[in-house]
Amino acid sequence: MKVLVTGGAGFIASHTNVELLGAGYDIVVVDNLANSSKESIRRVERLTGKKITFYEESICDEKALDEIFAKEQIEAVIHFAGLKAVGESCEKPLEYFDNNLCGTIYLLKVMKKYGVKSLVFSSSATVYGLPEKLPITEDFPLSVSNPYGRTKLMIEDMLRDLYQADKEWNIALLRYFNPIGAHESGEIGEDPNGIPNNLMPYILKVAAGELDYVGVFGDDYNTPDGTGVRDYIHVVDLATGHIKALEKLQQNPGLVTYNLGTGKGYSVLEIIHNLEKVIKKQIPYKIVERRPGDIGSCYADVTKAKEELGWEAVKELDKMCQDAWNWKCKNPNGYQDGQAE
Ligand code: UFG
Repeated sequence: MKVLVTGGAGFIASHTNVELLGAGYDIVVVDNLANSSKESIRRVERLTGKKITFYEESICDEKALDEIFAKEQIEAVIHFAGLKAVGESCEKPLEYFDNNLCGTIYLLKVMKKYGVKSLVFSSSATVYGLPEKLPITEDFPLSVSNPYGRTKLMIEDMLRDLYQADKEWNIALLRYFNPIGAHESGEIGEDPNGIPNNLMPYILKVAAGELDYVGVFGDDYNTPDGTGVRDYIHVVDLATGHIKALEKLQQNPGLVTYNLGTGKGYSVLEIIHNLEKVIKKQIPYKIVERRPGDIGSCYADVTKAKEELGWEAVKELDKMCQDAWNWKCKNPNGYQDGQAE
């Protein structure tokens, strides 16, 4: 079965590509490399010994998408492509709406034209806004507080409307919690541009001596140690969730929604201390102001994915930290290291 992976050179996508190829799927990737590197595609090919058909195109180019669908016999799509930085989305909302919303509309139009009606969509726990209680189940009310989150929720809404209008679609909305870690080979991992926004890549840079200290965004939340609690999931576990979702779509389930997390919450300080244990070195940190828009705690109820997909995350926090550090040590400058042109 041939799967189109949009944004297929990115962090979660590259790990999903390894699992897809391992499970026998053929992959076509479309990625404009705005926030990712072609090197990740080469590394996945090297790791798996299999080929990926790669198109350096934007999903905002409807004609290019059309040509890809005309040429390749695509049977399902995993849609990762999108801008994803919360802070940047507040500064440049139109770019986020244009790229994430328009790109998705073009993709869906072309899919419809070619009769491809199986889609796995990368959604986010951000669609739960400030949850009233924990853990979060899929039927919680949805709300968002920034343009990035709004694009995720609007795409979910678009997909629900599309499914209402045409029940031939099979759509899996996957709501990711906080993916960290890397493939245990250390060949692929997270490679953000510039100063990272997210906690784990930031801590890795401090641990490597590239940044002075971790700014811990607030220690007065209603959590055991006062710092923010999140549901961190190993990116390889997250990747296997996509394989299970694709398998589910083959049973014609209609539109389905799953939380992909571990169900366990860890605080910022627990993450820092766990990484210190792995690298056997202290990681300097300072408590600083809360980051606007952050919530105290967020973790998933993962029962639905377990029961309906037969999937659950199996890798513990130690492994997430070990694999993240291994990737960082092997590639201090991300994919710039060992880029073979
Ligand atoms: N944090 C710090 N210092 C930092 C970075 C983060 O203390 O330098 C804290 C945050 O306050 C939060 C935790 O670490 O408590 C995790 O922050 P991240 O930025 O890594 O992740 P978020 O939970 O804020 O956001 C992530 C994704 C979003 C997604 C959201 C869904 O980045 O895309 O999860 O819950 F929408």
